[in-house]
Amino acid sequence: MIRILQFGATGQVGQAMIAAADGRATLRALSRQDVDLADTAAVERAIAGADCDLVLNCAGFTLVDKAEAEPEAARAANALAPAAMARACAARGLPLVHLSTDCVFDGALDRPYREDDPPNPLSVYGRTKRDGETAVLAWDKGVVLRVSWVFSRYGRNFLRAMLQLGRTRDELRLVADQRGCPTDAVALAEFILRAAPRWTAAERGDSAFGLFHFNNGEATSRHDMALAALARDPRTRARVIAVAKADFPEPAARPLNGALDSGKVAAVFGWRSQPWAPAVAHAADQILAEGV
Ligand SMILES: NC(=O)c1ccc[n+]([C@@H]2O[C@H](COP(=O)([O-])OP(=O)(O)OC[C@H]3O[C@@H](n4cnc5c(N)ncnc54)[C@H](OP(=O)(O)O)[C@@H]3O)[C@@H](O)[C@H]2O)c1
Repeated sequence: MIRILQFGATGQVGQAMIAAADGRATLRALSRQDVDLADTAAVERAIAGADCDLVLNCAGFTLVDKAEAEPEAARAANALAPAAMARACAARGLPLVHLSTDCVFDGALDRPYREDDPPNPLSVYGRTKRDGETAVLAWDKGVVLRVSWVFSRYGRNFLRAMLQLGRTRDELRLVADQRGCPTDAVALAEFILRAAPRWTAAERGDSAFGLFHFNNGEATSRHDMALAALARDPRTRARVIAVAKADFPEPAARPLNGALDSGKVAAVFGWRSQPWAPAVAHAADQILAEGV
């Protein structure tokens, strides 16, 4: 069984990985209490001493607006810690799989972004994530999976928030002119587990390493993504109103077009995710079954 050392035990992707790995991989998931990403020496020690075949980083400073006020904490977790992971993995020849974001782009393109489109982040979060990508990709066995609009039954997330508000508010105003590709944390975990044997067996220079966009297909809006979840709940009472991003100011700028083309992951790994709408409906059903 493949042995995975995972940073991040409590987040959406971290929890999806723990569930998916059960009986299929030996996964040791490190929480913030085990290793704080701000302590790069502890990050390197954890990898140097680990009994593992692959390192996976599911942890990061993911509060996009808060990062504007706390740039040093965001840089430590999103740029310096992945750089320390890359150094420690390179020293042992271990593959390193890291997650990044559509927020590395400025959103000005009128088509989905491909891996070879140049980043131009608009926010502290986006800049620190771009620097983390650069550090991971400096190691020949580094893998960066860029994802966006992650959803799942786990943790705090957009779907859970929408289902809660849909029951309690009269009206929900949701942005309809910003594009993004929803990413199912469960599909991502399944992909990582299936690709893991290839990453551990591959030599440097293999096409399995490098930068990939991963998601559940077609781009949509937050408005339509929320509708797909709210339609599952007979107790939804809120009327949903489409608004423009410009009418919904946030501390951190986000790309108006954050759609990511996932053709490369299909070409290299033969991976095809389920379309986002049924996957969102399934995750919403799980959240509702567990109690909103
Ligand atoms: N969620 C999205 O829509 C989205 C979109 C694009 C990209 N991504 C990327 O995907 C990855 C996973 O996202 P997610 O949605 O699973 O994130 P999440 O649910 O916000 O979880 C973040 C994880 O990072 C841990 N963490 C944060 N700061 C830490 C620190 N200083 N030391 C140790 N652990 C720390 C958190 O631990 P605590 O529970 O202790 O805070 C938590 O386990 C991240 O790299 C993120 O940038 C996410």
